[in-house]
Amino acid sequence: MKTTRLIILGLGGVGRSLLEQILEFRSYQAQRYGLRLEPCLLCDSGTCLAQPQGGLSEEQLRQVLSHKLSGGSLKDLPDTSSWEPPLEAVRRLAQTGWVVVDCTASDATAEPLIEALSKGAGVVLANKKPLTADQETYDRLTRPRSGSGLPASRWETTVGSGVPVIATLNRLMASGDEIEKIEGATSGTLGRLMTGLQQGLPFSQIIRQAHREGATEPDPREDLAGQDAARKALILARGMGLKLDMKDVEVESLFPHQMSDGGVEAFLEALPRLDDSYRQRCEKASRSGRVLRYSVEVSPRRVRVGTVETPLESPLGRLQGADNLVQFTTRCFTPTPLVLQGRGAGVRATASGVLGDILELA
Ligand SMILES: NC(=O)c1ccc[n+]([C@@H]2O[C@H](COP(=O)([O-])OP(=O)(O)OC[C@H]3O[C@@H](n4cnc5c(N)ncnc54)[C@H](OP(=O)(O)O)[C@@H]3O)[C@@H](O)[C@H]2O)c1
Repeated sequence: MKTTRLIILGLGGVGRSLLEQILEFRSYQAQRYGLRLEPCLLCDSGTCLAQPQGGLSEEQLRQVLSHKLSGGSLKDLPDTSSWEPPLEAVRRLAQTGWVVVDCTASDATAEPLIEALSKGAGVVLANKKPLTADQETYDRLTRPRSGSGLPASRWETTVGSGVPVIATLNRLMASGDEIEKIEGATSGTLGRLMTGLQQGLPFSQIIRQAHREGATEPDPREDLAGQDAARKALILARGMGLKLDMKDVEVESLFPHQMSDGGVEAFLEALPRLDDSYRQRCEKASRSGRVLRYSVEVSPRRVRVGTVETPLESPLGRLQGADNLVQFTTRCFTPTPLVLQGRGAGVRATASGVLGDILELA
């Protein structure tokens, strides 16, 4: 039986679901691949729990899962003998035969991940921030291993969550196909907003409802400002070989910058001011058989995220709710683009994509 040791950074929704799936599929992976995934180091923002020899026991893993689910911090757990600062522990342990998995939303993980790669470990990222730092950091994280066309890192879930957008992009690039344009809707929250507008619902009502249900970030401005979509656009652009930074991505925010200040409740109360303009934009689009979508557009000429009017009968126009869609127009896929579509968010689908990345590296 081959053993792959894991370091998991981040025990929020994605990190916990990953741990659950590792336990759930253990006997399946043993039978099918002769493989055992052994979580040896788990970290949250405060500290970490390590058991480098033999891995953390199933009992310890279940205890961590229920403790983190109830909102606790790892440092509150009784066994304090094995604590050390998270990123230091990564530096100490990562080596060949290990995979470091970044399920944080932190921008502090890039250096330890690069160090882990240099020591021969594999790296899996659900976290977009290291890949959208400067170009050099991206290059060091994604550089092919010497003697192999493939890097020792995977970042499939950073765009489209469980939909295999990055694998498709990498295959198109590897085959030498020329990518003219990548377009699509990569935000479940903004997808839901756009279909709500199409149904005639007021902008403010859709956002309030989604916020109440926990379907937006705690501050919905984080979704509406388009920054998350911009990070995905940059990852796609860099995957196409373009040398760009975040400042090169044109971003359309869905609210005026005067509404950036102040608390969340004040923002939600001010939202009805935007209802009329969105209603008018949707009506105008509808008169020409089009609908409004929040789209990513990546080409050698332009990298942009923002609203577009698209024909109702196009793949993007037919998209509903929180689903994601990404389409590649390439020298081979012309005039009909290659279209990927599916559920684009949710911690289980994301963690399942992360697990797939780990298995590719194990
Ligand atoms: N949710 C989705 O559907 C989805 C889809 C695709 C990609 N992603 C990406 O996946 C990542 C995780 O998402 P999530 O929803 O699980 O986020 P989350 O619930 O906010 O969890 C983040 C976790 O990271 C930990 N953390 C923060 N800084 C850290 C550090 N420096 N070292 C170690 N741990 C640190 C936090 O610790 P504490 O517990 O101590 O706060 C927390 O456990 C994000 O980057 C997100 O953008 C999510």
